[in-house]
Amino acid sequence: MGDPERLFVLTGAGVSAESGLGTFRDRGGIWARFDPMKLATPEAYAADPDEVLDFYDHRRRGVVAAAPNAAHVALARAEARLADRGGRLFLCTQNVDDLHERAGSRAVVHMHGELLKARCTACDAVTPWRNDLNRASSCPACGAAGRMRPDVVWFGEMPMHRDAIEAALAEADLFVAVGTSGAVYPAAGYVRQARRRGIPTCEINLEPSDNADAFDDARYGPASAALPRYLADLGL
Ligand code: OAD
Repeated sequence: MGDPERLFVLTGAGVSAESGLGTFRDRGGIWARFDPMKLATPEAYAADPDEVLDFYDHRRRGVVAAAPNAAHVALARAEARLADRGGRLFLCTQNVDDLHERAGSRAVVHMHGELLKARCTACDAVTPWRNDLNRASSCPACGAAGRMRPDVVWFGEMPMHRDAIEAALAEADLFVAVGTSGAVYPAAGYVRQARRRGIPTCEINLEPSDNADAFDDARYGPASAALPRYLADLGL
């Protein structure tokens, strides 16, 4: 394989696991402890907004307290090195934390939204938000009270930035997935789109994911070690 110029990287909760943020489907993961249908759907928010907001308040505090790990840092460094040689690293994350940004990644596409932003359901304005949200929280843009929700994608809602993601997939010359179980679509389908285009694909994960058969290369181990090693092998 020649040096990649257009690298598409998909990250999932496994990339932030070593920063202390929980994954979803591992033993003891977030969805093993909490019912996503009661906490991560528009219906759950309509039925019991306090419970939903509490759940995301707790996770937001975890994100604010966490720090990027070597996997985040390696991706930021690879983005800069690839840009220096005229290439591009497109970083598509399913994560709602900001650890890629804090490690120095510049262009991060959050397909499942961002926990450190809140959206007003009255006027749709999106505002940076680091504190707890409650039903007294008011929108800085329109002033409506009690209409702020985390700017994350819930089950039954459309992922964000799909056009930009499709465009990047269509021009990528290498597809890499890191720390994702391959259980949630459309992200889980991107490797097959890449394969249909005939580009190399690699998964970096603690263990084979649900999608392992769809990749033509794999590196298994903690992302903080396996990802820097893999990117170094690419000269990044
Ligand atoms: P999952 O929890 O489904 O998968 C995390 C993957 O990371 C698993 O395959 C683990 O084996 C792997 N893993 C755990 N620790 C790791 C480590 N230190 N290094 C490398 N890999 C590790 O998380 P996602 O695939 O991100 O969506 O889940 C996708 C979506 O499902 C999330 O964005 C979230 C969730 O429901 C919404 O909330 C909309």
